[in-house]
Amino acid sequence: MNNVLIIGYGYWGPKLTRNFSNSNYFNLHSICDLNNSKLKEAKKNYPNVKIYTNYQDAIRNNKFQLVVISTPTTTHYKIAKKIIQNKMNVLVEKPLCLNLKEHLNLNRLAKYNKVKIFIDYPFIHSGGINYVKELIKNNKYGKINSIESYREQAPIRKDTDVFWDLSIHDISIFSYLLSKKRILSIKPIIYNKKQKNFKKISIFLQYNNTNVFIKNNWDSPTKIRLIKFVFDKAIVYLDENETLYKIKIYKKLNNQFNNYSLEVPNIDLTEPLMNLINHIYYSITKNKNNLLNEKFYTNVTKTMTMIQNRL
Ligand SMILES: NC(=O)c1ccc[n+]([C@@H]2O[C@H](COP(=O)([O-])OP(=O)(O)OC[C@H]3O[C@@H](n4cnc5c(N)ncnc54)[C@H](O)[C@@H]3O)[C@@H](O)[C@H]2O)c1
Repeated sequence: MNNVLIIGYGYWGPKLTRNFSNSNYFNLHSICDLNNSKLKEAKKNYPNVKIYTNYQDAIRNNKFQLVVISTPTTTHYKIAKKIIQNKMNVLVEKPLCLNLKEHLNLNRLAKYNKVKIFIDYPFIHSGGINYVKELIKNNKYGKINSIESYREQAPIRKDTDVFWDLSIHDISIFSYLLSKKRILSIKPIIYNKKQKNFKKISIFLQYNNTNVFIKNNWDSPTKIRLIKFVFDKAIVYLDENETLYKIKIYKKLNNQFNNYSLEVPNIDLTEPLMNLINHIYYSITKNKNNLLNEKFYTNVTKTMTMIQNRL
């Protein structure tokens, strides 16, 4: 069985753990956290798992097919490096690291040790995003002209800023959806530049023939996860906060202003983390490679770095 170790059982770790425990392909074997009360909670929820306070003890005593790193962002690089050096595959929470140099170092190490690095960008595994990907691919409503993404409210973090915490979701989504297009220009705006860990940002990205506007804000009274896609013949809204009707398609009628018909399609509602886990399984065991490979992950960090250089 493909044994899994989860490192970090704070806010996001339990969500990953629940999905791994429900997986047909992986065996939730061990959980590690520095905090004893978190470990107590883990043991209560999963009585059969082994628990560790030090991940180095866990990897010394067991062979894991996959190690999941869900600790604070600034710890990812060091822990991932250690896991890869021990010849184990890793799934690292986004962001993998905060600069391209570290990402490329980890790529080199992974190649040398013949293991794979996966990054948790959950939205690219969502039914909604994959539905829109098909619309773009098959040109159903014509060309995609512009996109607006609004992502507001999230836990405020001390070790990073809103750009590396929330904008990275949008950059991963648009790198995935617009993989055939090139970025021609970038214009980011930070609203409170003097703050080290700024909370609000807008980014304009011009791809060939598609303009993208991204607005991210940690501090907001309402939680928003909304993307608007403007095609030649329809406007498509994707609201990841909706439980069932995540996609709404407004088809333009007779090319008149403000005259639309509404269609709400059925989409795959599988939890994105489960789709990610299945992707990892096929990628490791069947050596199947699709669009979500090392090149894709590196491109996301490259784009993040390009934008950061303009902040
Ligand atoms: N993919 C997503 O949509 C998504 C959502 C939320 C968070 N995240 C990412 O997940 C990561 C964790 O975020 P969080 O909100 O769960 O943080 P958190 O602070 O709630 O949890 C982190 C946990 O890691 C533990 N920890 C810290 N250092 C450790 C170490 N060396 N060994 C073992 N345990 C250690 C802490 O005790 C804590 O319990 C961040 O990088 C964040 O960006 C991703």
